[in-house]
Amino acid sequence: MRVFVADHPLITHKLTVLRDVKTPQPTFRLLVEELMTLLAYEATREVRVDPIEIQTPVAKTTGVRLSEPLPLIVPILRAGLGMLEGMVTLVPTAEVGFLGMVRDEETLEPTTYAERLPESLAGRQCFVLDPMLATGGSLAAAIDFLFARGADDITAICILGTPEGVELMQKAAGDRNVTLVLGALDEGLDENAYIVPGLGDAGDRLYGTA
Ligand code: URA
Repeated sequence: MRVFVADHPLITHKLTVLRDVKTPQPTFRLLVEELMTLLAYEATREVRVDPIEIQTPVAKTTGVRLSEPLPLIVPILRAGLGMLEGMVTLVPTAEVGFLGMVRDEETLEPTTYAERLPESLAGRQCFVLDPMLATGGSLAAAIDFLFARGADDITAICILGTPEGVELMQKAAGDRNVTLVLGALDEGLDENAYIVPGLGDAGDRLYGTA
């Protein structure tokens, strides 16, 4: 698995405001979108394109367009939804699928409770959005789910990650084609599995506690 940790002063600046407990919800939402657009720029560095010829008002020239099948963006419900607009801003022609993951209270294993994806994911570049790579359990399960549906090229984008989460993702990915893009790599987890220093509960800060 390839791991990319962002290193850009604008990302660090926006992350600092996002982390601040005093940042109000509307600003938090906006910042998640803005950060996502910046991370999407890095995450799509190897998006597949085909060469094309076009005519400008002055001359013929060559360029590229996104290859078919178009990239598939998969936000993990619920907090990943907050990242969707930021990604679609950069890749407006991408298709969007949805995956809902929840931890089974008995087995403590992450399971899928909702899914809206194309039948086969073979040959598609999949971009999975999940803001917080904490223990890594749900993102690793999501990636397993997508591979089982035929995916062969997955980029996971998280705003914050932990060394524990990266390690679990590395195990889950094995020798499969997975790239992980992080806005920052934090210190670790507290006893409640919150990222430290983190930003708190991303879903709650985006959408409230309902
Ligand atoms: N999920 C969150 O929203 N925040 C954390 O710190 C860990 C998991």
